[in-house]
Amino acid sequence: MADDDREQFLAALDESLAGGRFVKLTLSKYRGPEAGLKNVYVRPVTLKGGGRLSFLYRYRTRDAVKNHTRAQGARLVRGLLASGFAGGHLFTTAEDLRLDLSRKGDARLSRTPPTFSTPAAEEHDRRKRRAVETEGNVYLHALGVTNERGEVRPAMGDKLRQINKFVEIVAGLYDSSPLAGREEVALVDVGSGKGYLTFAVYDYLNNVRGVRAEVTGVEARPELVELCNDVARRAGFERLSFRKGFVQELELPAADLLVALHACDTATDDAIHKGVVAGASVIVTAPCCHKEVRPQMRAPEALRGVLRHGHLLEREAESVTDSLRALLLEAAGYRVKVFEFVTSEHTRKNTMIAAVRRDDAADPASALADFRALKEFYGIREQRLEKLLCEI
Ligand SMILES: C[S@@+](CC[C@H](N)C(=O)[O-])C[C@H]1O[C@@H](n2cnc3c(N)ncnc32)[C@H](O)[C@@H]1O
Repeated sequence: MADDDREQFLAALDESLAGGRFVKLTLSKYRGPEAGLKNVYVRPVTLKGGGRLSFLYRYRTRDAVKNHTRAQGARLVRGLLASGFAGGHLFTTAEDLRLDLSRKGDARLSRTPPTFSTPAAEEHDRRKRRAVETEGNVYLHALGVTNERGEVRPAMGDKLRQINKFVEIVAGLYDSSPLAGREEVALVDVGSGKGYLTFAVYDYLNNVRGVRAEVTGVEARPELVELCNDVARRAGFERLSFRKGFVQELELPAADLLVALHACDTATDDAIHKGVVAGASVIVTAPCCHKEVRPQMRAPEALRGVLRHGHLLEREAESVTDSLRALLLEAAGYRVKVFEFVTSEHTRKNTMIAAVRRDDAADPASALADFRALKEFYGIREQRLEKLLCEI
């Protein structure tokens, strides 16, 4: 029986590869001799020499990738199941199969309806296609980015560039975070507005990357929540939903990734706070309307000549606010980068704060000391994120 179940699993792998139904395979529960090895993730790729299987070996502290022909790959999976991996999860467009091997050598196979209805987009295709395709795209049309022929409306070109850039950034952060290789993730988008970015990131994670992503938009304006839920239904995005309310008042669902783009003023602090409390691995914000810190700022002697100009004071207040947020995120255990999100002559709301949770223990003392020094330098009494984090 044990061999039967194992053989059936391997036969299903062969058949899915031969029939173009293979989506991906995960090997888990490693009990073999190789130090630090945890999982192997197998997915199809197209290289110069043709179709291959990419094997990503995940060790405790590093990844290694090897590509094999499909026949070699299938043999390798057989070998890996014989030499230490006790769990296999095969995704095909016909069915999902899960194989569990016990320590005594017994095998159990279970079959469930398929998670994915189309084969994974191969790396080769991924490089060619943009993160967000416009052709036949239901949500871009429903949200007014494209016309009925799938062409980008003239006034929406910048928006589409912003959407693509955002998805690329989230993809890069995802890959560099502890979430890389996960089969299921939850993402919360705070201040989702009309949902352009929420739809795009849902589509990308689920339909391009083959990750089962549960995505929730949180938005204060009820008419936008209604619109977005309606578009999600029309697009067939079953794991995407929008909730009405102010982020600070809501109990949010679990979040592995939290994003908040142009959430007004201190809604960015509320969003970051929720992300930290949820233990999110990735927190991405593009703050806007920095109102809290500016009226509190006292120009230090040497900067009086600069900060007496309202325009320069406003810029300084933005930089200081975002620096304080970055320092608090570092103190909370994140690696943080602050960079220009999109270059645009039309908006200055283009600073992005991207935080990825560290997997080593970081000492918060230095970031907290810098935070306090910066606050003191400008005479700032109160900063919302600090207040929220102190209440944890
Ligand atoms: C400038 S729009 C950005 C929309 C979207 N994130 C984007 O970048 O395209 C900001 C949105 O955040 C919402 N918002 C502001 N404060 C909020 C809060 N405290 N809780 C939830 N939503 C909020 C607003 O209603 C608005 O729709």
